[in-house]
Amino acid sequence: MNSHVSAALIEAPEQAGADEVVRLVDVRRHFGATAALDGISLTVRKGEIVGIIGRSGAGKSTLIRCLNGLERPDGGEIKIEGSSIVGLSEADLQPLRRRVGMIFQHFNLLAAKTVEENVALPLKIAGVAKAERLERAHDLLDLVGLADKAKAYPASLSGGQKQRVGIARALAARPALLLSDEATSALDPETTRSILALLKDINRKLGLTILLITHEMEVVRTIADRVAVIDAGRIVEEGQVWSVFADPKTPISRSLLSGSRPQLPEHIAARLLPTAGSEAILSIDLAGPEAHGALFADLSSALPHSFRLVHGGIEHIQNQPVARFFIAVPVRDPTLKDKVEQFLTARSARVEVLGYDTDHV
Ligand SMILES: Nc1ncnc2c1ncn2[C@@H]1O[C@H](COP(=O)(O)OP(=O)(O)O)[C@@H](O)[C@H]1O
Ligand SMILES: [Mg+2]
Repeated sequence: MNSHVSAALIEAPEQAGADEVVRLVDVRRHFGATAALDGISLTVRKGEIVGIIGRSGAGKSTLIRCLNGLERPDGGEIKIEGSSIVGLSEADLQPLRRRVGMIFQHFNLLAAKTVEENVALPLKIAGVAKAERLERAHDLLDLVGLADKAKAYPASLSGGQKQRVGIARALAARPALLLSDEATSALDPETTRSILALLKDINRKLGLTILLITHEMEVVRTIADRVAVIDAGRIVEEGQVWSVFADPKTPISRSLLSGSRPQLPEHIAARLLPTAGSEAILSIDLAGPEAHGALFADLSSALPHSFRLVHGGIEHIQNQPVARFFIAVPVRDPTLKDKVEQFLTARSARVEVLGYDTDHV
């Protein structure tokens, strides 16, 4: 199309949001005194996978329901592919619903219909001829690895297979956006990984934009590019997944992350003393270029005494090193702890003295 060509050649200001699949501005939804959504602003660009994470009751499902038109906001603006959907009539919402596919925690398949009929259903509703919709269903079943289950009924499938059918069905009408509301919450960890790998694969192959809602940080870490943390109907933190993992700014983010990051082992944490001991126990958080393995060799050679590595390591999130270590520094040289802190903070690490230990054997 012409508009795409001109957007690529000239940076016309009106084209600035051309790759925005979702744009939310100050979206509000109240239920009586409860502000389920209390002013949500968020943009999702084409091809992105954005995770929205929050505790139960934070407003995640309400947000998703506003995006597919099942719920109407009391205020704010919602645009899908540049078109406002707030205030549309039911009839005018129909074309939009075809641009937005959705997968659910409990799959929502029709038990009395075969797998291929379930996948083809959105096309049947859209008035697509039978031969064409079955062909499309078979292509999609191929894509999700279930070509041999076309004639099966949902009851004969495992949870992971049911969700694959759900994904195929969600893609039937070639949506611009896939919404996922806790789509892996009912699955075991291994099946969860395979479903997330499938979603990532579809994202890469089709350039599909995905907005997923979850209460599990592992889901976000595995596939999202960006994450927004939602609490009491507000986005309290937003950023690249690796940077939120490396340096969560809010208590709610830290608490959601706590199961996904190294923690000081319980038996050591339990015996820490607040003010005195033979060793200071420090936590070290750093990410990006400084978080490489040579850090410890450099630190060792900068110090007159040796320190002990207690726990932790480096992981890679979105190809970025994200490190958290716990070290024990002897306190017989009173300047040592300060030297360690100086060395590390000069490298943008966050250093915290957790307490003192007397017995490390
Ligand atoms: N239809 C409704 N009627 C009344 N309260 C609702 C309704 N839907 C959601 N809520 C309330 O809005 C808040 C957010 O709910 P929800 O969006 O389902 O959160 P989440 O999906 O994050 O668990 C909760 O306090 C919930 O009780
Ligand atoms: Mg929910």
